[in-house]
Amino acid sequence: MNLPEVDRIRITSVVDNFVDLLLRDEGPARRRPRRERVFEGCLCAEHGLAELVESSRGTEVLPLMFDFGASPLVFLHNLDLLVQDYGVDLGAIRTMVLSHGHWDHFGGLLAFLRQHRESLPEQAHLYAGEDAFLARWQAAPRQPRRDMGMLDQAAIEALGVGIVKVREPQLLSGQALLSGEIARRTSYEVIPSTMRVDRDGEDIHDELPGEQSIVYHLRGKGLVVLTACGHAGVVNTVMHAREVTGVEEVHAIIGGFHLSGAPQDRIQSTVDDLIGFDPDIIVPMHCTGIETIDALRERAPEKVIFNSAGTRYELTAG
Ligand SMILES: [Fe+2]
Repeated sequence: MNLPEVDRIRITSVVDNFVDLLLRDEGPARRRPRRERVFEGCLCAEHGLAELVESSRGTEVLPLMFDFGASPLVFLHNLDLLVQDYGVDLGAIRTMVLSHGHWDHFGGLLAFLRQHRESLPEQAHLYAGEDAFLARWQAAPRQPRRDMGMLDQAAIEALGVGIVKVREPQLLSGQALLSGEIARRTSYEVIPSTMRVDRDGEDIHDELPGEQSIVYHLRGKGLVVLTACGHAGVVNTVMHAREVTGVEEVHAIIGGFHLSGAPQDRIQSTVDDLIGFDPDIIVPMHCTGIETIDALRERAPEKVIFNSAGTRYELTAG
């Protein structure tokens, strides 16, 4: 599929597992300006992810929302502050993308729509994998079942937001590519059988086939791959992005790599393959885990940027 090049991508981290007010600007990372009364405008961290992403191609601009944090409390609080800080126009956002149907990615969505539906364009749409609205949980032996949530599709539609279910790679406004279902290629990026989903009343292993990543082609630099939780495997995701677009160069890999608590050999294999893509920038977020961040920084300190909620990445064409 031909993915048209964009001239600029601006990614604002709205919710992440980390908040650090003291980080310095670094490469394309611009830290949130501190307010005079710092204590009144503090962002919160939580185990979740949400981003505002804006790309442009010539005079055409595509703003979108990618995921919605874990809780209404944090998502709405952080979004409100960042909309003020950066002058975000919610009225221009007709595209929302949900990566997958886990609570730490859709948690703030319904509360956001209830509060801000009037501010969004009438034709606002939510793009998600076809399995994003199923009931999910974790069932480890000898442990209580842990509910991973279930997003209420009817409640979203009742708020006048259209839902587009994605299976195949899909171009958004000629700028961003929704991955579609991500092919699984590596031997080590395996989803444990403790992840469960209800398919037509049947309790089955949840391999999250519908998980979506967002991919851009930044002019003169290469692919920019945004993962959310990376259940499909961040290496699989980058391979998929390359194959679908036919673009080999990888400029940036940004998002959750889902390796917190993972076995050491899986972390090592992932780091080897990520470095093998030779990206210019790696921004590990959310569920990546400190061991993987350490391992990446050991291998390629100049490529790795530590994220904090509120950080804005300004990626520009080469
Ligand atoms: Fe997650």
